[in-house]
Amino acid sequence: MTMTLPQRRLGGNGPYVSAIGLGCMGMSDFYGQRDEAESLATIAHALDRGLNFLDTADMYGPYTNEELVGRAIKGRRHQAFIATKFGIVRDPNNPAARGFNGRPEYVRASVEGSLKRLGVDHIDLYYQHRVDRSVPIEETVGAMADLVRAGKVRWLGLSEASAATLERAHKVHPIAALQSEYSLWTRDVDESGALAMCRKLGVTLVAYSPLGRGFLAGAFKSPADFDADDYRRHSPRFQGENFARNLALVAKVEAMATSRGCTPAQLALAWVLAQGEDIVPIPGTKRRKYLDENIGALTVKLGADELAALDAVFPAGAVAGLRYPEAMMSGVNG
Ligand SMILES: NC(=O)c1ccc[n+]([C@@H]2O[C@H](COP(=O)([O-])OP(=O)(O)OC[C@H]3O[C@@H](n4cnc5c(N)ncnc54)[C@H](OP(=O)(O)O)[C@@H]3O)[C@@H](O)[C@H]2O)c1
Repeated sequence: MTMTLPQRRLGGNGPYVSAIGLGCMGMSDFYGQRDEAESLATIAHALDRGLNFLDTADMYGPYTNEELVGRAIKGRRHQAFIATKFGIVRDPNNPAARGFNGRPEYVRASVEGSLKRLGVDHIDLYYQHRVDRSVPIEETVGAMADLVRAGKVRWLGLSEASAATLERAHKVHPIAALQSEYSLWTRDVDESGALAMCRKLGVTLVAYSPLGRGFLAGAFKSPADFDADDYRRHSPRFQGENFARNLALVAKVEAMATSRGCTPAQLALAWVLAQGEDIVPIPGTKRRKYLDENIGALTVKLGADELAALDAVFPAGAVAGLRYPEAMMSGVNG
């Protein structure tokens, strides 16, 4: 039986989605061991619980994550709201390298691949994954708008775009969502003005990595907790001295969660949810157990005093280390 969850709206006059989404990336890439059966069961369980907002991208895998989501929604397409992305180009010979492509012909070719892998006739929300600074945003979004007119895509989004880029894009075609990293330990959209621009334009912020890639959930106590091929081993916040300093911050979140009667993951998600009705976090997990726990965050309502207390123990800028390896930072706020 499908249940309902609180909903939030994408864009000023856009569609309603569950107030928490499900990030599917880690099911296929970046976060160590894969378990396809449990991943499929997690997506099915999400839909059963009324969590319909599923997040993937062509570069996760690459490609295999869209295929996995496609298998999971087979026969249940009408229950799912599928968001996918194009624009990050990976080099099979160098998995760490990233290129960005926002050329119109690339947009047109990419959507066909995503539709096929997902096994759908339209994508609900199509994002440019990273701004390609060598192509005017008007050209990229113009090509994306053509996809809307062709019925291949319903709504448009950008990921990690700056306030200025978002404003230019929105003039070409309404942008329903900006997907950027946002959590207790990543407040860049507050500081850069991107969230303020979202609010000016009526664009919803889809908050990715709202659990700090799992760190804020308190599940990791040492860099050795990660598999050898786990991306986080190479991420500055998860290394050496940074890891230790960040662990001390999370210990305070854990203590607050204990006294509040919730888990640290729920507290971290409740903080994101409390920043505004126009924000939708998409925590990632490949397990039904964590999914249920994360949905439980919807009932953790933080009052002004609790939010202030949380901000006091984990203030903006307190985190140690960049959120991406140096070379990848040039891709954000584009
Ligand atoms: N636009 C972009 O550039 C971009 C970048 C990164 C991510 N994303 C999207 O955002 C989604 C979410 O971000 P994310 O996956 O990077 O980070 P996240 O949601 O902050 O954290 C995911 C990690 O937290 C763990 N976790 C989840 N719930 C937990 C709980 N209740 N207790 C303990 N641990 C828990 C997961 O473990 P298990 O995996 O073991 O379940 C996983 O290791 C991704 O799946 C992806 O779709 C987008």
